Amino acid sequence: MKDNAEKSRRKTCQVVGLPGDGIGPEVYTSACRVLSVIEETFGVSIELDEQLIGGAAIDASGDPLPPATIAACRKADAALLGAVGGPKWDGNPADQRPELGLLRIRAEFNLFCNLRPIVTHPALHDFSPLKKDRLEGVDLMIVRELTSGSYFGKKWRNDDEAEDVCRYTRAEIERVTRAAGQIAQQRDHRITLVDKANVLETSRLWRAVATAVIENEFPDVKMEHMYVDAAAMHLLTRPADFDVMLTENLFGDILSDEASMLCGSLGLLPSASLNDERFGLYEPVHGSAPDIAGQGKANPYAMLLSVAMMLRHSLAWHVEARALERCIHVCWNEGILTRDLRSDGYSTVEVTDRVCEKLAASATS
Ligand code: IPM
Ligand code: MN
Repeated sequence: MKDNAEKSRRKTCQVVGLPGDGIGPEVYTSACRVLSVIEETFGVSIELDEQLIGGAAIDASGDPLPPATIAACRKADAALLGAVGGPKWDGNPADQRPELGLLRIRAEFNLFCNLRPIVTHPALHDFSPLKKDRLEGVDLMIVRELTSGSYFGKKWRNDDEAEDVCRYTRAEIERVTRAAGQIAQQRDHRITLVDKANVLETSRLWRAVATAVIENEFPDVKMEHMYVDAAAMHLLTRPADFDVMLTENLFGDILSDEASMLCGSLGLLPSASLNDERFGLYEPVHGSAPDIAGQGKANPYAMLLSVAMMLRHSLAWHVEARALERCIHVCWNEGILTRDLRSDGYSTVEVTDRVCEKLAASATS
């Protein structure tokens, strides 16, 4: 993982926009509006190249990740994805599912390191099902391995049996552990490796390899081990104790949805998927929410926080990233929230209006 400090700041960058399905296009539109305010306010320039992925791409070309989308990403600094999937494609054969577009872009660009920050905010404590005293000071980073494990292992099914092989190699564990080590060095220097080493051989390999990487290369970082079942419990009983949580693909998928409830809504969680080169994919952790698609109800904050992660990690636009995050937090303090959080909530467009107004004013304040 490249250190942000090493990346020099350019005034122009190229971003591929992937609106996708369901509420994807709505939150993506919100991101585009915020990006144009950032351009005007901070004197930078973003070239947006919109491409197809997921169900929308299947409908247009029969392929959930068309070659044109891959080619556009090869030329870009980053991609911004809304969401993929929906009931319309549920009956499709395995190679014609929208989710495959997402899995293939992760594999194609080697996006092995998925960052899912979980930070609670006092203005949102009341929206979490957890008691307030558990939520104070929660600031953890889930580092989810994203390009291997049971998601990508050999798969087959007949009428009576099925198999999804979970396979990990030493190299795959080493590279994501190094990324987690670097992240921990910028935080509280602690990693919790989450596995099921009492049962799974892959977990035993993870423990051996990850422990050695941290001991040999990150002597200032402390690693503890936790079984995934216990981690699921401790996320609810003492979430503030975690710093970096490192885990394999499937465990990370499940634990990050669980952890979103600490923040109040899955609609608030951003993510970054990174490789060892310059390209990164940024997307909300939530899915395409077909039940509310097209109604203007979608929560755009997860997408906007993903934009902030993109500005920071792929473009090294730190000032702009901080300004956007600050404006979002001011909006939260003012109760500018969508209907997943309050029944009298604002629409996607209204929330976006408010964020844009504050951003435009932030250069002068
Ligand atoms: C996520 C999603 C995806 C995953 C799906 C849509 C394939 O749930 O990004 O967490 O399981 O990785
Ligand atoms: Mn998920």
